[in-house]
Amino acid sequence: QTKILKVDPLSIHFPPDAHLNGSLPTITDPLSEKNLLEAANVIRGSTDTVAFPTETVYGLGGSSLSDEAVKNIYRAKNRPSDNPLITHVSSIDQLNRKIYQDNHPSSLFEYIPDTYRALITNLWPGPLTIILPVPPQEKSTLSRLTTADQSTFAVRIPSNPIARALIALSDTPIAAPSANASTRPSPTRASHVYHDLQGRIPLILDGGPCKVGVESTVVDGLTKPPMLLRPGGFTYEQIVHLGGPFWQNCKVERRKKVDEGEKVRTPGMKYKHYSPSARVILLLPQEEQTDMDRSNKLRQLISLECEKEGKKSIKVAILTSLHLRSAEIQDLTFADSNIKIVLEKLGNTGEEIQSNLFAALRQVDEIENVDIIFVEGIDESEEGLAVMNRLRKAAGDNCVLF
Ligand code: TXA
Ligand code: MG
Repeated sequence: QTKILKVDPLSIHFPPDAHLNGSLPTITDPLSEKNLLEAANVIRGSTDTVAFPTETVYGLGGSSLSDEAVKNIYRAKNRPSDNPLITHVSSIDQLNRKIYQDNHPSSLFEYIPDTYRALITNLWPGPLTIILPVPPQEKSTLSRLTTADQSTFAVRIPSNPIARALIALSDTPIAAPSANASTRPSPTRASHVYHDLQGRIPLILDGGPCKVGVESTVVDGLTKPPMLLRPGGFTYEQIVHLGGPFWQNCKVERRKKVDEGEKVRTPGMKYKHYSPSARVILLLPQEEQTDMDRSNKLRQLISLECEKEGKKSIKVAILTSLHLRSAEIQDLTFADSNIKIVLEKLGNTGEEIQSNLFAALRQVDEIENVDIIFVEGIDESEEGLAVMNRLRKAAGDNCVLF
């Protein structure tokens, strides 16, 4: 009973400053408009949830102003309630009116600390999430359940026109985690959402594949030095170059684990995440190795891991990026013909790899039903930081130098 409604993102047109002053879009395709209005009515008029595309991944949205809606999000995803949610607004005007209850602020940026000014001027709308202090209870109707008891909340203005239109038309800030079942890889297609959440949510807006492919970059500019809490759609290099002087010594949160019960600024990192059902093994390319060395090592690894599985026949996926070449892998021969190899190329650039990552993991896991996934890692600069952050989580501690 989960409905899927299509929306054409190219039919939605925002005036240039709409993300500042809150102007509404014009929508040239009547069916897209009808479907968007139906979803907006669910957000505005009920405590139900709607899955919708953003430029990063699909989100599962409900009103940030309603405890019941937020509870429904946590319930549908099976998400631990101490992992806080990002609030999505369509404009800074909407942030002022709806989160701070202020219809006439003295300036547009009244509630946003100056440390964020250059960053959001350069990067909003887009995959950047900033951390703000929670407004005092009497001044705000922001559901405290979105903050998971922290003194801060997270907010972003997405650039995907469907996401922006949904938020603008409902005139409601939307709390939205990624629309996957908790612990699974994030969804970058409507079909991924359907796979995980069918029967648990009423409505999915289908706007095609997400372009960026990993979640937004989460930054905290309330501390000195500022912190990059989660690498994402904007790179660390972009944050440093476009954030102004304050962001020049931005630190990256690198701790892998936190203690049980510890109050943390990056609650997301406590949890198992991005994990397919198949076992994931992350291959870390070493500079001194040749491509030939690597395919030889891979052959040994596959035999070894297949023995460990202890099954008669086995299906193995190899997700390649920059070093492993399909020709060489296709040549991999096994004495044991019960090993079936599924080959998938992630891409030739950081951007392509990032964009295909979750879809490829889901393809080999959910459609091909492989037992083991080998995935070739990349250098941790530019898009590599976010890609490797997700892959390390998907692999747990299964990393092999090669
Ligand atoms: O791209 C995205 O950000 C997607 C799309 C749907 O917008 N959303 C998303 O939400 O990734 P979610 O819930 O999967 O991840 C939210 C992240 C978590 O790592 C959470 O810990 C962090 O944001 N977060 C939320 N509120 C926070 C806060 N007050 N302080 C620090 N981190 C926070
Ligand atoms: Mg998520």
